[in-house]
Amino acid sequence: MNIKLDGRRAAVTGAGAGIGREIALTLARAGAALAVCDVVREPAEAVAADINGAGGSARAYAVDVSDSAQVNATCDAVVAELGGLDILVNNAGITRDTLMLRMSDDDFDRVLGVNLRGAFFFTRAAARPMMKARWGRIINIASVIGQMGNAGQANYAAAKAGLIGLTKSAARELAARNITVNAVAPGFIATAMTEKLDPATREAYVQALPLKRAGTPEDVANACLFLASDLASYITGQVIRVDGGMLM
Ligand code: NAI
Repeated sequence: MNIKLDGRRAAVTGAGAGIGREIALTLARAGAALAVCDVVREPAEAVAADINGAGGSARAYAVDVSDSAQVNATCDAVVAELGGLDILVNNAGITRDTLMLRMSDDDFDRVLGVNLRGAFFFTRAAARPMMKARWGRIINIASVIGQMGNAGQANYAAAKAGLIGLTKSAARELAARNITVNAVAPGFIATAMTEKLDPATREAYVQALPLKRAGTPEDVANACLFLASDLASYITGQVIRVDGGMLM
């Protein structure tokens, strides 16, 4: 896809693996300078090295998005070291699946802490430099589960539904400063997260999909590339599903 992001500075959370890694590589190929953020330093450094090795520009940042002090410090460092922050992709996410009656307080709080509070912390921190620049793109990686619910994922569904509410509120608050805020809601994407499911469950998910295949990280990254670009300047507060037709 020939979409250009030359001169833009982008931060992607949870970018050491899976969907976040692919989003970082895709935005970098389009010309953006990348802040590759992950709670684990080594994979973030490996992704930054891949980008730099391919002629792009990237720096790695170790940050736990569920810790607001770490997020604020990271955002300040990104703005100082990249010279600004134009695009934020809140992608970091975890699951702790179990039926509600067995779900511990910690299972619930930890999933909300990373998937929802983390996105709030990073959005709040990134909004300041974007407001100053009067240009910004914030993309939140939600999930179809936030719209459908799912047995065994009360914590995750609540977090992703909350993230959609956060997206719409932030879109309304920031629109006057030319900052768009959208959510991408993937369906069933082949990554380490879905690798944890047993093969029969995975196959049942795929067979129920109209497009009859699992999505790839590239499928999600392409939607993010479009939303991050000038082509999407009139789209805000939306939830774009990338799900092979799972929910329609
Ligand atoms: P993954 O498990 O492959 O990668 C997640 C990355 O986030 C890892 O590099 C991990 O170290 C990082 N991370 C975890 N906790 C963090 C924290 N506290 N701070 C910073 N980084 C942290 O997951 P995947 O599949 O790539 O998922 C990415 C996003 O897409 C998540 O928000 C997930 O909920 C969402 N999603 C995934 C779907 C799928 O089918 N794989 C479907 C729908 C949504």
